[in-house]
Amino acid sequence: MRTLRLEVNGDEVVTSAPDHWTLLEVLRYGLGLTGSKQGCDKGDCGACTVLLDGEPVLACLTLAASAEGRRVLTIEGLMPQWTRESGTPGPHPVQDAFDRCGALQCGFCQPGMMLSAKALLDRVAEPTLDEIRAALAGNLCRCTGYTQIFQAVQLAAAERAGKPVEPPSWRRPEHTPAGGELPWKEGRPPQEPAEV
Ligand code: FES
Ligand code: FES
Repeated sequence: MRTLRLEVNGDEVVTSAPDHWTLLEVLRYGLGLTGSKQGCDKGDCGACTVLLDGEPVLACLTLAASAEGRRVLTIEGLMPQWTRESGTPGPHPVQDAFDRCGALQCGFCQPGMMLSAKALLDRVAEPTLDEIRAALAGNLCRCTGYTQIFQAVQLAAAERAGKPVEPPSWRRPEHTPAGGELPWKEGRPPQEPAEV
């Protein structure tokens, strides 16, 4: 066993784990932070992506001992960190954009996808579509077809830059933040809830 000292989502954490445990195992099974997904567990899918000192890493391939003394951000910490740093309550702009673009279905890929997108936008204020594709290339999604995911990252970047956003075909007026306005005027009429 090894004693580990990490900063996880802004908190100093002291925990112990077997020497061979990965960062993903410490997060999920040591600390109960199950937002980071254990997909392939061999570096193929990106579902386990977390930020280590601000950079995306595959937690399933990162030995926990190598994260000693470093800053770990998981999906559980994304909204609290945003609120702390910006003084704005509510989801991080990337989370908000994914929601409004309908960029998720089963959601399994989303924690890793959003953290990779956040790291990109922290590094490049207005990434091109190719840069977005490259930054998310290691995050596989079995459901969405990626188009709305890329559009969500573009939306988050455009809004942060204060740029007007063209009304795209995928707008989801019914998913505006509580009381919020979409950056475009026209929208698809709200859908009637399906009868069950
Ligand atoms: S679970 Fe880590 S890459 Fe798939
Ligand atoms: S939304 Fe299902 S894997 Fe991406």
